[in-house]
Amino acid sequence: MNYYVLTLFPEMIMQALKTSIIGRALEKESISLEAIDIREYTKNKHKKVDDTPYGGGAGMVMQVQPVYDAYKTLEEKIGYRPRVIYLTPQGSVFSQKMAEEFAAEKDLIFLCGHYEGIDERVLEEIVTDYVSIGDYVLTGGELPAMVVIDAISRLVPGVLKNEESAQFESFHDNLLEYPQYSRPEEWMGKKVPSVLLSGHHAKIENWRREQSLRRTYERRPDLLKSANLTEKDRKFLDNLRNNTCK
Ligand code: ADE
Repeated sequence: MNYYVLTLFPEMIMQALKTSIIGRALEKESISLEAIDIREYTKNKHKKVDDTPYGGGAGMVMQVQPVYDAYKTLEEKIGYRPRVIYLTPQGSVFSQKMAEEFAAEKDLIFLCGHYEGIDERVLEEIVTDYVSIGDYVLTGGELPAMVVIDAISRLVPGVLKNEESAQFESFHDNLLEYPQYSRPEEWMGKKVPSVLLSGHHAKIENWRREQSLRRTYERRPDLLKSANLTEKDRKFLDNLRNNTCK
């Protein structure tokens, strides 16, 4: 997977993503990352990249020329038109399903806006996907781009050490993950659930499944609608519902 980020703050992207698991993946070349400074492409002699909006109003708008030229140079280098993701609160809300879809691509371009946004005409010309990371407004698209890159990268083969851990975490089967415990066996009077110390694998599996179901029911009941449930799961949930209603 090759990521390209068109931004006015390339160092913000490179600094943050060179650490931890994504940093290790970059070193191992499971993924690559290039942050391209849009300002380097401006033809304005003062290196300006923005101007006031037509029709008036607050703030500044990023102009078409530097954004388009930065994009075109990249497209020529890549050799085809890859998906271009524009980060905006007006986009579709990012999800694990979208992460899976993007992870199948070979190249992805992220376009980060600032100020009051980017001139609509260049967006129409180059953007394929409008993506939001949630219903709140940030100062720019860099943090959202990093969130999306992180979520996609852990699905790219070779990025996580244990391939399984990507499969069995929260949102597998649309259920939340069961609680985890490690040493010590007792802390501040709180004991690790005894079934986890039993060594009985079938019982542990069953307990974990029930914890996932309970957790999802209590914290994110909306997810249950699209969860992959067995008859046994349904019975367990019916029981939970009956007991909480009493
Ligand atoms: N830019 C500003 N706020 C954003 C958000 N919530 N999601 C994606 N891009 C943004």
